[in-house]
Amino acid sequence: MGNIVGAAIVSHHPGLFRPKEIRVEMGNGRDSDLLEGYQRVRARLDAVAPDTLIIIDTHWFTTAKHVVAGGEHYQGTYTSDEMPWILYDMPFDYDGAPELAKEIGRVAEERQVPFYNAENPHIHPEYPTVNLLEPLWRGERILRVGICQNAKAHHFLEMGAVLGEAIRRSDSRAVILASGALSHRMTDLDFKPRNPRFWHPDNMSDPRHVELDHEVMAAWERGDHAAVIDRYPELRAAAYEGLAGHYMQLVGALGGRECHAPGTALSEYESALGTANIHIWFNLGEEQ
Ligand SMILES: [Fe+2]
Repeated sequence: MGNIVGAAIVSHHPGLFRPKEIRVEMGNGRDSDLLEGYQRVRARLDAVAPDTLIIIDTHWFTTAKHVVAGGEHYQGTYTSDEMPWILYDMPFDYDGAPELAKEIGRVAEERQVPFYNAENPHIHPEYPTVNLLEPLWRGERILRVGICQNAKAHHFLEMGAVLGEAIRRSDSRAVILASGALSHRMTDLDFKPRNPRFWHPDNMSDPRHVELDHEVMAAWERGDHAAVIDRYPELRAAAYEGLAGHYMQLVGALGGRECHAPGTALSEYESALGTANIHIWFNLGEEQ
């Protein structure tokens, strides 16, 4: 019987993939803490020894159906069309999780959840997946999950529940990585930094979003996921990345409102062009 052995929200923003000396300069003499944070996330992964990473990819928007990339293997070279001066010529070469993807399809059909298992190998990963490979991936199978752009809160929770049930019916030891930011309203091109450290939360686009993010993180720390789910409209208003579908599908897989897994911050809370980035690990009691 399969099991979800860990879950986390992780940042993937492109600034982290600039050369270290540039990051330190941008950070007014100190690197972004999200880099060391990746090592802390990897230590948690090592402790639970997953064989499969479910990456909920907040740049992969789908329409009319929830979609996973259920191919056997993905190989290629990634260059971002959004920030090609930072993310270019990045090789990727990893096994998918086709059996798990088929199981997700069976559960979705039983539950009448609109779903498509995309086995076409030409669907290339976006950078919320590719950027995690170097810092976090150590050969596990990878199953990418998209964000259905016309889903409501309950749809994301239902799809998450499908993921959770399919994992239990499989033989996978899975960790779910929700790859994306919290509030995600960018500053515009005229923005003058309020703090010389680019990554400092003073440089967030809207202090009200910072306040919301801290309230959400406090609820996670208490393991009060119902409180966060209830605030979904506020998450949308603060432009949580991927329509907050990364977190909502993650928590749906963990039991939705009944989930009480406490969240632990594994990095500082940082701004990147006004968006909120942090790594948070949800303890499912599986650590050795
Ligand atoms: Fe992003």
